[in-house]
Amino acid sequence: MKLTRRTLLASAMLLALSATSSAFAAKPLVMGFSQVGAESEWRTANTLSIKEAAKKEGVTLKFADAQQRQENQVKAIRSFIAQKVDVIAFSPVVESGWETVLREAKAARIPVILTDRAVKVADPTLYATFIGADFVEEGRRAARWLVERAARTPGRNFHIVELQGTVGSAPAIDRKQGFAEVIAGNPRLKIIRSQTGDFTRAKGKEVMEAFLKAQGKQIDVLYAHNDDMAIGAIQAIEEAGLKPGVDILVISIDAVKGAFHAMLAGKLNVTVECSPLLGPQLMALARDVAAGKPVPRRITTVEGVFPAEVAAKELPNRKY
Ligand code: AHR
Repeated sequence: MKLTRRTLLASAMLLALSATSSAFAAKPLVMGFSQVGAESEWRTANTLSIKEAAKKEGVTLKFADAQQRQENQVKAIRSFIAQKVDVIAFSPVVESGWETVLREAKAARIPVILTDRAVKVADPTLYATFIGADFVEEGRRAARWLVERAARTPGRNFHIVELQGTVGSAPAIDRKQGFAEVIAGNPRLKIIRSQTGDFTRAKGKEVMEAFLKAQGKQIDVLYAHNDDMAIGAIQAIEEAGLKPGVDILVISIDAVKGAFHAMLAGKLNVTVECSPLLGPQLMALARDVAAGKPVPRRITTVEGVFPAEVAAKELPNRKY
């Protein structure tokens, strides 16, 4: 074949074009993710879900553990901005105090996705979307279980102690609100003590010990904002010579495997599901957001309620 100047030029152009487009196709999406910490079984499952999904989807993940401190999250977000990542995602430790750093991300034209927990900001354009559970509804579900249970023993009063999650966090605020809303209509159900256990087993145990010291046998129900605190508290109840699940009804949220084991042992009465498996949906959203595609403002995860009676049947199906 005779190579003319024109054919040589055309092949060179084609080569250059395919090199550029394959470079585009090969460029992985870079996501900066700031995680709350490793405070609970739920959080461990959530981190794993995000890391596995990123790997599967070929997303380069820059992962930072904030150790339950907002200032660490702010630092991490600033470092993601400096590194010019494509998308920033984070699960905020607390609801408020995000305006400044989110404005910085917006000025750098980096879209932000909230996962698991919400933020309170006046400007809704500071984040693209929020994927996570309806925490208020989880609190309501926990209370509805108790209302039904109380209906079996007319005339009996139930003194409730509440172990709240991290102060200022969306799940602590919302789960408290949802529960209070439902029991408000029932004068037999009364919260007599409420304190934070910071979503950890150790704190859950410590605070329950204090509740037991102060209230003794007056406690009929423990409502814990997560399973880990409930599991810690169960230990405190046993150490006080009482039977968790029998002398004190135990209600919690998350539905991690640890809660199912506690239910099978008769120590926990019900767990309300909160799914940590947000990784796959987060990666799909990140691609759309980075490509400038429209996404829903709010994606709510679908969840159930698992009383002890179904624990044996459900445990084999649990993924976290
Ligand atoms: O934000 C979700 C909550 O955070 C989970 O209920 C709890 O276990 C976690 O630490």
